[in-house]
Amino acid sequence: MSETKPVVRLKDLAKYYQRGSEVVKALDGVDLVIDGTGMVAIIGPSGSGKSTLLHLIGAMDRPTRGEVIVAGQALNGLPEKALTRFRRQTVGFVFQTFNLIPNLTALENVTLPMEFNQVPKEERLRRAKHLLDQVGLGHRLTHRPGELSGGEQQRVAIARALANDPPLILADEPTGNLDTEYGQKIYLTCSPGRRSVSCSPRHSP
Ligand SMILES: Nc1ncnc2c1ncn2[C@@H]1O[C@H](COP(=O)(O)OP(=O)(O)O)[C@@H](O)[C@H]1O
Ligand SMILES: [Mg+2]
Repeated sequence: MSETKPVVRLKDLAKYYQRGSEVVKALDGVDLVIDGTGMVAIIGPSGSGKSTLLHLIGAMDRPTRGEVIVAGQALNGLPEKALTRFRRQTVGFVFQTFNLIPNLTALENVTLPMEFNQVPKEERLRRAKHLLDQVGLGHRLTHRPGELSGGEQQRVAIARALANDPPLILADEPTGNLDTEYGQKIYLTCSPGRRSVSCSPRHSP
């Protein structure tokens, strides 16, 4: 990725939700530039729009107004097919509620995004095992999400976000269910050589 191009640029970004006659302004006029590599934390109380912001940066949702430019790509005008490719190749998303596939094992949840990217089977398995090992789940490969604790599910979700080695990781309260020691390890796992944007209701991981 070019050093001169911002990784994320948001211009006058707004997201309104219509609920019957009520308009909920989750975001209203956000301007943001994120450069280089490393980590950026977006901090704010519950309901302040953190998840909405990350969803718009990750092309999980479309804005009501404004521009989202990620790694030089303007997302606004992109057709659905290009947005799917963007989500697959440019971002790794750790959802606040994990969104693991319940009938797949931890290993299968992590190999799946690589399957979409046509990574050969042996390489998928090798990489998924390595990532699950790195997040301390080498002994839980065949467990399904329902057979894992909240913190363990969150770690599977983090391994999955790293599977395709995307240049940008978007993590929505990624350590909310982890104890401090794991939280710090996860930040180290996520950080080398890429940009990660995480959001949190508080300062420490
Ligand atoms: N689909 C929706 N419809 C209506 N309001 C919503 C919807 N999603 C989120 N909101 C509202 O938008 C605001 C921001 O939500 P969110 O981005 O989830 O906040 P945070 O992640 O900071 O807790 C909240 O007030 C929430 O109630
Ligand atoms: Mg949230």
